[in-house]
Amino acid sequence: MQEKPGGAAPGHAWSGRFNEPVDELVKRFTASVTFDQRLALFDIQGSLAHAQMLAEVGLLSEIDLGNIRLGMERIRTEIAAGKFKWSIDLEDVHMNIERRLTDLAGDAGKRLHTARSRNDQVATDVRLFLRDAIDRILDRIRQFQLALLDLAEGHAATVMPGFTHLQVAQPVTFGHHLMAYFEMLQRDAARLADCRGRVNRLPLGSAALAGTSYPIRRERVAELLGFDGVCENSLDAVSDRDFALEFSAASALIMVHLSRFSEELILWMSPRYGFITLADRFCTGSSIMPQKKNPDVPELVRGKTGRVVGHLMGLFTLMKGQPLAYNKDNQEDKEPLFDTVDTVLDSLTLYADMMGGLTVNAEAMRAAAREGFATATDLADYLVKKGLPFRDAHEAVARAVRHAETQGCDLADLPLATLNTFSALIGDDVFAVLTLEGSLASRAHIGGTAPDTVRAAIQRARNALA
Ligand code: ARG
Repeated sequence: MQEKPGGAAPGHAWSGRFNEPVDELVKRFTASVTFDQRLALFDIQGSLAHAQMLAEVGLLSEIDLGNIRLGMERIRTEIAAGKFKWSIDLEDVHMNIERRLTDLAGDAGKRLHTARSRNDQVATDVRLFLRDAIDRILDRIRQFQLALLDLAEGHAATVMPGFTHLQVAQPVTFGHHLMAYFEMLQRDAARLADCRGRVNRLPLGSAALAGTSYPIRRERVAELLGFDGVCENSLDAVSDRDFALEFSAASALIMVHLSRFSEELILWMSPRYGFITLADRFCTGSSIMPQKKNPDVPELVRGKTGRVVGHLMGLFTLMKGQPLAYNKDNQEDKEPLFDTVDTVLDSLTLYADMMGGLTVNAEAMRAAAREGFATATDLADYLVKKGLPFRDAHEAVARAVRHAETQGCDLADLPLATLNTFSALIGDDVFAVLTLEGSLASRAHIGGTAPDTVRAAIQRARNALA
């Protein structure tokens, strides 16, 4: 570009102050329009509310407001049709839209930026984007929870081994196991809902950093945009992205929960467990091994947890060295947030669908529960109830387990006479305790795994979602 006195880059809103054109690499390096165009509809929404307020306080004529509205409508249509021409010369979504509006609406377009700055504009856009994202994620969490409840209901009494250290520990029901994830998701939803309250405040009116000399009405703009209120300090409003970090942290936790579930589905689907099969639509084959059916979807959810957790680290690092107020560093918040939202939404959607495509092999679960002396604790508890101190009971049962192990059988398979060699307190009522069903039924307090308790938990969960 030819150097021109008093304006080296006439395409730019700020070109008047510069003596030489921006270096091509600098242009590409500093532009955000390739990714922040995703904010376009929120940007327009914010601009329309701002323009309406300007008109209401007399800073914009009704004619200008009408022209801005018409122009923005047209721009929306162009974007929806994929016809809008995004230009990297115009740096970001805000200046691209403003320039097009000026083409369409003339001076009215140039008046729109009265009493605002891109700094409060972008902070508003990101908040509108995140509010919408949170609402969509909350909806998907709920769909997934409903699918979990249906599956749990069908398996409120299906026995499986519960694990600690990935060793068989005590019998639980599959329904109980699934309800653990319901609880995690309840907290995930609560965290997002809480975060939403802090996202949903209006930065506009803070202008570049110090507020504006125009007689604006920030509360009115907040009302028009459905915000709960305005950000109280202009310096804070344009610069801090803690609300985005919170969102990112809540999202990382969702992914960590899904990743734990993924790990289990993958293990359970392995022939070594054989507890479940996933519908073919969630799996892929191998290009070399014809027999393979791989649980790709859970594996990828587990893998993509890495990027969502990584984005959280990225955002923390982005924020930590920034002096007040706005710094261009903040432009780097967008790609991680967009990717977080996409990944979380897709993962939740797939999980909700996967629950309906999950086949349970109850026999394999039961057989596994019988293999690991899962009712040993029940035998110890039985002896305690007969008066033996718990530590002695623990010792007696440990010896019984060791003996059963040498015999290659379960505790329930040992004859009473053999059991009596470990404790004389054992009577023939012990066999009710040593069965898987007996063990389950005895854990009937709130939070326990007894089938009736699990059914009650499912009912409470349904009420909570209703
Ligand atoms: N693209 C910028 C961002 O994403 C918009 C704000 C730019 N403000 C500025 N003073 N350069 O943060």
